[in-house]
Amino acid sequence: MSDRRFFVGGNFKMNGDKASLDVIINNLNTVDSPNDVVVAPPSPYLSYVASKLTSNVKVSAQNCYKVAKGAYTGEISPAMLCDLGISWVILGHSERRHVFNEKDELIGQKVKHALQSGLNIIPCIGEKLDEREAGVTEQIVFEQMKHIKDNVEDWSRVVIAYEPVWAIGTGKTATPAQAQEVHEKLRKWLADNVSNEVAQSTRIIYGGSVNSGNCKELAQGKDIDGFLVGGASLKPDFLEIVKANA
Ligand code: PGA
Repeated sequence: MSDRRFFVGGNFKMNGDKASLDVIINNLNTVDSPNDVVVAPPSPYLSYVASKLTSNVKVSAQNCYKVAKGAYTGEISPAMLCDLGISWVILGHSERRHVFNEKDELIGQKVKHALQSGLNIIPCIGEKLDEREAGVTEQIVFEQMKHIKDNVEDWSRVVIAYEPVWAIGTGKTATPAQAQEVHEKLRKWLADNVSNEVAQSTRIIYGGSVNSGNCKELAQGKDIDGFLVGGASLKPDFLEIVKANA
């Protein structure tokens, strides 16, 4: 058994309004778990959700920019998140990479600035279907990891999310064996490229169509330290996923 604390993130993406978030918050307020539980509402609702949570569920932003302030219409900065008491941010989510065309270099800059600003980060990596089929999954995720690694000094504030793009929102989950295989390779990559200590202590979580039906089996992978959950985080089922390792 590893002593890495199980971590479950809920990514609401661009979903929810005050009424539906109230329902989710009431559910989250019943969470009583030793695991780290973090939810990421859309940015207009960050303070609303944070102010209503009474359990120890933490709040994350879904993205932020690479500088503290300035003429960047539409962006939010880590400094603003810290000012609001928000302690986490997801970076480089596949929708940021593929819908908004964010490249590894920009994601690396965001990683650096968010950490320097005091945030905890959940950088996301993952291969597309054609890349998996071409047998280059490792090459792709290692390259994404390199841009993250080059910008991290304090690994204790980093949780890596492995999310194969073909599994996100598609209902096609990676099998427990497929997920474990990549997680194990990522941990070895961390040992080879950062340090053994960082490899052993850094949480690597899986994302991609995780639900209450598949979470327990996935959680058994010895290198799977939790989940980043999209669709199912908006449903009562999320509470089942939170305790998938119990
Ligand atoms: P999904 O999304 O659970 O809806 O597949 C996962 C994610 O995008 O983090």
